[in-house]
Amino acid sequence: MTSLLKVSNLVKKFGGLTATHDVSFTVEKGDSLALIGPNGAGKTTIFSQIMGEVRQTSGTIHLAGQDIGAMPTATRIRHGISRTYQVPRPFSDMTVLENIRVGLMPDSLTQMVFGRIDHDREEALALSVGLAPQDLLKSPSELSMGDLRKLELARTMATNPSVMLLDEVFAGLTVGEIAQISELIQSMRREGMTFLIVSHDLKALEPLVDRAIAINQGQKVAEGSFKEVMDNEAVVASYLGG
Ligand SMILES: Nc1ncnc2c1ncn2[C@@H]1O[C@H](COP(=O)(O)OP(=O)(O)OP(=O)(O)O)[C@@H](O)[C@H]1O
Ligand SMILES: [Mg+2]
Repeated sequence: MTSLLKVSNLVKKFGGLTATHDVSFTVEKGDSLALIGPNGAGKTTIFSQIMGEVRQTSGTIHLAGQDIGAMPTATRIRHGISRTYQVPRPFSDMTVLENIRVGLMPDSLTQMVFGRIDHDREEALALSVGLAPQDLLKSPSELSMGDLRKLELARTMATNPSVMLLDEVFAGLTVGEIAQISELIQSMRREGMTFLIVSHDLKALEPLVDRAIAINQGQKVAEGSFKEVMDNEAVVASYLGG
């Protein structure tokens, strides 16, 4: 069977620093995989390489059997891969709804030719992530961190992905917001969405994933069920700075 996402022998060097060291893993369709590891382990850099925002030094990235490892980011998004950012990155000169619209129409040529915008869909996406109706015409600068994370999710969903990479999706959220976003991820899972999720909130992460891989100093140190990985000695040591 062809895996939906297959990362093979990924290496990324920043000068003398090896941020990703020969990392390989696969994600099957409908699978949800946790990517855990201490600060600076290399989790975000793996996401950036999968999206093409950072070019790998060596190694390959396949999406549904197709080699996407040299494609520009916009092309990868059109092939069905999308991400959220650890630090939300809205377009600050657009409203909340307009930010989601950019995701709905990633191809500016399509926008010019068809000029057709599905206002219902962008509003439905905004409400589905828990943004309040009265916030939709605001500037992102007026939103709380929790609402900025919801906006990140809505923008990511708008590109109609087949696999979503979520980077620190719970950071800065209240307990209620974590429950709301968890339920949203669960409902997308029930509909068959595929996830790769980075989170330091391991308690919130556990119910959302089937499996986990642990990264330390750019290297994969464990892979298995969430519990197996959390109990792994190398993983425990890495969190303690060992
Ligand atoms: N553009 C860059 N140039 C140089 N070094 C970088 C760059 N991006 C990341 N790094 C380094 O690569 C390593 C991995 O960073 P990365 O952000 O991927 O870690 P992380 O696991 O996401 O950490 P955190 O949990 O703190 O978000 C770190 O040492 C970081 O300083
Ligand atoms: Mg990170």
